[in-house]
Amino acid sequence: MLKITYYGHSVFLLDDGKYRVIIDPFLEGNPAAPVKPDKIDVQYIVVTHGHGDHLGDAIPIAKRCNATIIAVNELANYASEKGAKAHNMHIGGAVRLPFGTVKMTIAHHGSVTPDGVYAGNPAGALISMDGKTVYHTGDTGLFYDMKLIGDTSPVDVLLCPIGDNFTMGIEDAVKAVEFVRPKLVVPMHYNTWPVIAADPNEFVKRVKVAGFRGQVLNPGESVEL
Ligand code: NI
Ligand code: MN
Repeated sequence: MLKITYYGHSVFLLDDGKYRVIIDPFLEGNPAAPVKPDKIDVQYIVVTHGHGDHLGDAIPIAKRCNATIIAVNELANYASEKGAKAHNMHIGGAVRLPFGTVKMTIAHHGSVTPDGVYAGNPAGALISMDGKTVYHTGDTGLFYDMKLIGDTSPVDVLLCPIGDNFTMGIEDAVKAVEFVRPKLVVPMHYNTWPVIAADPNEFVKRVKVAGFRGQVLNPGESVEL
């Protein structure tokens, strides 16, 4: 069984009972986060890009838990230089790890760390764990290759931004669902700040009209697969 817990913004914890993997652990300074970073206990941390609302507390969590940060080369090097354990990879590549596999996908966005270091290309991540595939798109606009991603890797759960301005808004996110064709979509990257205000229930309603299943997770809530 794979348990997926939402911690607000783009933060998700994947837990198969043995391994715990957190994605984009922006907790300190995240007004929606129901937990503090020092309560997180994980073995792996996937970071989609260098922006502060995604890199977040990855480095302190990695150091305290002796966890490995998984990121594109430039961002992984940055984490290593800050004293964290990191695994370098890049877009299009997959790696087999003790908990499953991670494949990095493209994302149309930017990537620089909060202290101004170029962090390589932004990415999304296809994470296979306990026989399930979760696609966290990272911050991105809509792109047609999402169809290719869905065709080559059947997606159980799509974690998809809907907040607009910096990423897809609801209309494009519904299109993304149609391209990826996941069994379930969970919206993310909305309502953290007024500039990314969006109604997740409106998104789920439109996803349903398109023939797919969406579920809103409030910060702290989980879904089990
Ligand atoms: Ni970003
Ligand atoms: Mn962001």
